[in-house]
Amino acid sequence: MVENNLSPASITGNLGTHVIGQRVICYPSLASTMDVAKQEAQLGAVEGTVVIADEQTMGRGRIKRVWLSPKGSIALSIILYPSVVNLPSLIMLASLAVAHSIETGTGLRSQIKWPNDVLINDRKVCGILIESSVRGNIVDYAIIGIGINVNLRLSDFPEIQPIATSLSAELGRDVSRLRVIRQLLIEVERLYLALQAGGSIYEEWRDSLVTLGRRVQVKSGKTIYEGVAESVARDGSLLLRHSNGSLSRIVAGDTTLRD
Ligand code: BTN
Repeated sequence: MVENNLSPASITGNLGTHVIGQRVICYPSLASTMDVAKQEAQLGAVEGTVVIADEQTMGRGRIKRVWLSPKGSIALSIILYPSVVNLPSLIMLASLAVAHSIETGTGLRSQIKWPNDVLINDRKVCGILIESSVRGNIVDYAIIGIGINVNLRLSDFPEIQPIATSLSAELGRDVSRLRVIRQLLIEVERLYLALQAGGSIYEEWRDSLVTLGRRVQVKSGKTIYEGVAESVARDGSLLLRHSNGSLSRIVAGDTTLRD
């Protein structure tokens, strides 16, 4: 039986981080960890505060989608106060940290699909949502929301079964959420400190993308683009080559792999 009780002490004990996880708040159930993290940030919570819920009743995804996070999954939000130049890199940071923590925590190899979905065998195992408040050049706060399908039986969720997977489904056994969360916080700290010290994580993120070189469809607002994902720019935008040779630069969107 996998030990799966989450508590601030079990998460932070001997974690060895200095910023991420300075404070951890665990709830049995929340509408969304994003809302509580936002309230905490507005009250000046210490950087690296983590809000975790065993389940979310109104978890939200990108583009106003619903995010399912029943018991057994990981739903957490991390409060950061980055410099404004590092804001676009948080997407890269979060997806890399998740991919690394899944690999270290379970041995499973995952891929990142632009901009920040983490996939195993072409199915989504994790979603990332970044919300921030910025005034001019000042970042009031940024919140990284991470949802990982850990111990989820996909047959219980037919609405996502064709496109999603979980760590337990991939491994055929239950997985310790505690282990994955601890690895995740360690990875977020490593990448965040590197970023704040002036380092770049762009190259590592670019090289981890499963999207590049693939034929894709990208939905961005009301526009649908088709083409080959040629490259990504340092600000995280996608460079898409169309069949007529022209190039589009797409800042945000939802990608479907077509080949
Ligand atoms: C997406 O792929 O659309 C992003 C999903 C983000 C889900 C996480 S779970 C923790 C945090 N709380 C939320 O309500 N959403 C994010």
